[in-house]
Formats: sequence, structure tokens, C-alpha cells
Amino acid sequence: MNATRNIPFARPWIEDAERQAVLEVLQGNILTHGPQCKGFEEDFARFLGDDAHCVSMSSCMAALHMAYYHFGFGPGDEVIVPAMTHVATVHAVELVGARPVFVDCEPATGNLDPVRVAAAVTARTRAIGLVHFLGIPCRMSEIMAIAERHGLKVIEDCALAVGSRYDGRHAALFGDAGCFSFYPVKHITTGEGGMLVSRHKEVAASVARQRAFGVDRSHAERKVPGMYDVVELGLNYRMSELQAALGRQQMRKVDEILRRRAANFDRLRMGLAGLADIRILDGAGPAASSHYCLSIVLGGGRAGRRAEVIEKLNALGVGTSIYYPQPVPRMTYYRQKYPYDATAYPEAARISDCSVALPVGPHLGLEDMDYIASAVRTVLEGLK
Ligand SMILES: Cc1ncc(COP(=O)(O)O)c(C=O)c1O
Repeated sequence: MNATRNIPFARPWIEDAERQAVLEVLQGNILTHGPQCKGFEEDFARFLGDDAHCVSMSSCMAALHMAYYHFGFGPGDEVIVPAMTHVATVHAVELVGARPVFVDCEPATGNLDPVRVAAAVTARTRAIGLVHFLGIPCRMSEIMAIAERHGLKVIEDCALAVGSRYDGRHAALFGDAGCFSFYPVKHITTGEGGMLVSRHKEVAASVARQRAFGVDRSHAERKVPGMYDVVELGLNYRMSELQAALGRQQMRKVDEILRRRAANFDRLRMGLAGLADIRILDGAGPAASSHYCLSIVLGGGRAGRRAEVIEKLNALGVGTSIYYPQPVPRMTYYRQKYPYDATAYPEAARISDCSVALPVGPHLGLEDMDYIASAVRTVLEGLK
């Protein structure tokens, strides 16, 4: 097979409508916490449906930090977190001084294994900080049952979960807060940006103050310009009007983005059918994925040859990525801080060490999926 295409792993989908919207903000005088942010929060809440209350933030990391800060967790508290996730899921716990307790994942989805979550609960556990891995929803009925049994808060990392639903309900609307990312390679982008979502109105209202220094009234609510009071401790984690204007335009395409991703994912999965020694991470039953990418986990004799597989796919013009490069407890910061047992997270280690993430984004079409499938076949079948 010769390289006849050049397929990037991800590419933001920005058109004239987005450029125009940002220019219009620049032509006005309100550059932050104005009508675009409010409109973006409303658009996003409408898309999520049910009882979503949205607060725009400067990033998903900021939203996660804010969630743990808001609920008042700190030293002496434990939070159950996945070993297989982006480090932001865990840094947020660490930043407030609570202790992350790592739990291994299920092999089929890469998500927190509810049986292991139940076994990790102690008298000090205050929360479960889960991730919907690659946009595949966690088994929320089981996880929420554990949380309710032990009186735990649930913080959902929804960075890749725009469009992820479990039993018809959107991710972020099960627990106490859910945090989205609008980083360039995500489902929709604002450059940098995030959204904290809660089904509890009072949580969203309080977070909206805390992400803006803890001031008691917005600019629009100030009778005397410049006059406000500060009622609690806060940060500046706001989104700008430029970002929100971009995000609102992206939301107009979100259904099309999700449709393309789903169609690409299905086509690629079909193209890979029957290939020996690979497992495709995916949701099943009530878990409807947002199809961030299609991750294959190499098994058998191919498990140790991931570097070679990636190199050959890239040489054929297929862009790849790795989600995520190490189980978080194996990363230097965490390994140095907490006792590390190399055998404790075998499933997370397998995904980190043996998986390849393939692109299914809206920048690609079905012919690209057919090409990727042929390339994967050629590379895997050609391994001596
Ligand atoms: C699961 C997960 N959580 C959090 C983040 C951090 O998002 P942000 O860059 O918006 O802070 C990422 C980024 O890739 C992620 O994949």
C-alpha cells in the first residue's frame, strides 16, 4: 500500500461564520462576561436538555478545579479517580489538597469499573471524580447507586463527552457537576475554554460567583458602576466574549459534528471487523458515545509493537494519537508523591501501552475511514 492520503488526527472546524462572530465582538466594547457568554451558556444548556445549568469557564481544568473547590474538599478527604484519564481529572483533586485514590478501568470501555469503585470506598471518601473515557459514558446507574449509598458527591469529567448520553440523559447531568473542554481538538472549540454544568441551580449560581472573584453582582446588576461587594473567596476562571462568540457558532453545527463522528466511527469499526488481536473501545447498551476517536488496543503478539504500528500508520498518512500516554498514578508527579504499585492498574496500563487512537472527526469522510481501515490492515497483517 502506498501513502495516497494525509489524514490529520484532528482539526478544528472553523468557517466564516465563526470568524465573523469573533470580529463582531471585536467591533464592540464588551470583551468579557457579557451577552455572548450568557448566550453560549443558554445554548449549551438547551443542547444538554433536562435540568442543565451552565457556567462558562476558561478551561475544563479550571472547571474541574472549581468543582472541587466549590464543594469544599481538602486535606483528609479522599476522592476516587480513574487511573486511566487525562491528568486534569486528578490534578483538580490534588490542587484542593484532597487525596486521589486511583481505581483501574474496565477493559471494554476504559471507564471506571464500578466494582472496583465500591471496593475503594473508605470512611474518608467524599467524592467520585469520574471521566467519560473518549466520550464513552460510564455505567452511571451503578456509579450513582454507590455514591448514594455512601453519601458521595460525583464530579463528571466530560472533556470528550459533548453528545454522550447514558439511558438518554446527557453526561454531566447525573452527578453534582460536569466539566466540558473546548480545547481545539475537542467536539466543539473556543480556542481554550470550558463549561461547568450542574443539574443543581444553586451549585451553578455559586460557581458563577466563585469563577469571578466571589463578587456579589455582575456588571449588568451594578446600579453604580464599579460598586460591588465580595461575599466569598474566588478565582478568575471566566471565558471571554471572543471565545463565547466562537462557541455559539460551533453549537450551531454540533448535531452535524456528532452525526459525522458517529458515521465515521461505524464505518471504521466495520472496516476493522475480523482483524485478529485488536479490541475496539466502545460503549454498549444504554451508553451512547460521542465518538471522540476510535481506539484500538493491540493484543497477542502485537501488544508490544505499538511504536512500530504507529510509525507505519503515520508513514501511510494516517494521523494517530494516544489516550492517555500513562496511567496517572504512573506519571512522575504522582509516582513520587504516592506509593506506586506497578501491578495495581493492569487494564489502564494496557490501554496506555498498547492502544492507538484513530481519527473519526468531522474533518474526515467515509472514504478516509476506508483508507484508514486498509492502512491498519496492511500494517497489522504485515507485522512479521
Ligand atoms: C479527559 C480530559 N479532562 C480534562 C482535560 C483538560 O481540558 P482543558 O484543556 O480544557 O483544560 C482534557 C484535555 O484533553 C481531557 O482529555
